[in-house]
Amino acid sequence: MDFEVLSIASGALSDHVTDTLLLLVPADQARWTLPQALQAELRQAVDAGDLSLKTGQSLCLHRPAGIAAQRLVLSVAASAQAQAQQAAFAVGLALIKTSGPGTRTLSVAWGGDEPVVASAWAETLVKAVSAAVYVYRHTKPSATPAPRLTRVELLGSAAQVSELQTGVRQGKAIAAGIELAREWANRPGNHATPTHLAEQAIALGQAFKKLKVEVLDTEALAELGMGSFLAVAQGSDQPPKFIVLNYQGSTKKVAPLVLVGKGVTFDSGGISIKPSAEMDEMKFDMGGAASVLGTFRALAELQPKINVVGLIPACENLPSGRAVKPGDVVTSMSGTTIEILNTDAEGRLILCDALTYAERFKPAAVVDIATLTGACVIALGHHHSGLFSADEALATALQSAGESALDTAWRMPLDEVYDDGLKSNFADIANVGPRAGGSITAAMFLKRFTGAYRWAHLDIAGTAWKSGAAKGATGRPVGLLTHFVLAEAQALAARKST
Ligand code: BES
Ligand code: MN
Ligand code: ZN
Repeated sequence: MDFEVLSIASGALSDHVTDTLLLLVPADQARWTLPQALQAELRQAVDAGDLSLKTGQSLCLHRPAGIAAQRLVLSVAASAQAQAQQAAFAVGLALIKTSGPGTRTLSVAWGGDEPVVASAWAETLVKAVSAAVYVYRHTKPSATPAPRLTRVELLGSAAQVSELQTGVRQGKAIAAGIELAREWANRPGNHATPTHLAEQAIALGQAFKKLKVEVLDTEALAELGMGSFLAVAQGSDQPPKFIVLNYQGSTKKVAPLVLVGKGVTFDSGGISIKPSAEMDEMKFDMGGAASVLGTFRALAELQPKINVVGLIPACENLPSGRAVKPGDVVTSMSGTTIEILNTDAEGRLILCDALTYAERFKPAAVVDIATLTGACVIALGHHHSGLFSADEALATALQSAGESALDTAWRMPLDEVYDDGLKSNFADIANVGPRAGGSITAAMFLKRFTGAYRWAHLDIAGTAWKSGAAKGATGRPVGLLTHFVLAEAQALAARKST
């Protein structure tokens, strides 16, 4: 897909030759800034009752009078804010899919007097277009092909051009990362094994010069003493893989950020087996891992001046004669013994060893990303990811990264009062606590392994995929993570220059 920024006087919008002009307009008509012909078309549509000036409304007009575009798609936006524009893009693009599938060139403009932040506007648009044209085909080659769209023009004033270009560049990189994350999370368990994930990571390492990738196998993991991770993996015939990605954008002496992604390529629950209904969705249980791969894909393209390490423990959680059993006690890499009371609380068991492994990088901060608990879905639904951290600055940084990327996280509690639940008579710690507050005790479990550095945990159980008719991965939180890393890189640069 080609994204092109064009400078165009707003009076010339109606003369712009294109297949489809997607025009976002404010709900308040007093705030329209449109050339005569467009204003007339819009007014007619409103007066005729074909378009109501409410957020989320849209209309497609074919060969509108006095307008050079073949089609005019009007989409009403609540305001110039990125979130409102995003919603209007999505509605407009959905309408183009059905009413203008022949569109090859799409031109997009904002017709309101309240100014948009051009870079954010462009980034949001690029992400929206990429999301709209993505089609999963890996195991369904017969899927309706993506629309014929090959070129998207962002129309703005001359003063906006450079900001729009910045946004396009960032949007393209993040969109590529989101698409990679969606694609891998969507692939079924038999097409996205730990070995497949490792191969994809290695391929990324080969494609980008600043990215080095290493994969540790069972033997190396045993050598490291990752008894907790290996306990989860032992029930499956698929060998576990521990993927280490290293993006070096700064000098070696700069402490890296470490991103740890849960990579359970299928979670049956193990001996504590899950009910059958919707168990297929547990192929998405490597959404954290997919988001780490996607973030590295974006970073490799954007090349920020910062170092980032990615750690992905990848395995299946299956029942078998060799599977770990409730009551088994295992020794983690940290030396802490763990009583596995429920084999379905496997995410924390693979993450704790990865978190211990992270210590060797003397990280500036560690963020883990995991589809960790059903309880988090109950708490937050599907809008915000759960954010857990005892570090105020880190929590704030992640929260604002989520806001600027329109990939939000909501802060959850993480104080010692929740620690009691994990007591065991047979080990240093149990892997499950009481049902109530389940996402918090899960985070408290992880916290035990993070004493050596600043740490935050993102529970993406409710945000990594959609269920029902629109079943599929979302690619979240690639946007949040990429914005976080970029902001940290900027902070590093600011510190250096003072
Ligand atoms: N992968 C699941 C969490 C999950 C469940 C995410 C449903 C999204 C939807 C995780 O491994 C799990 O099974 N967690 C258990 C923990 C419990 C046994 C303490 C859960 O949430 O039920
Ligand atoms: Mn589980
Ligand atoms: Zn799981």
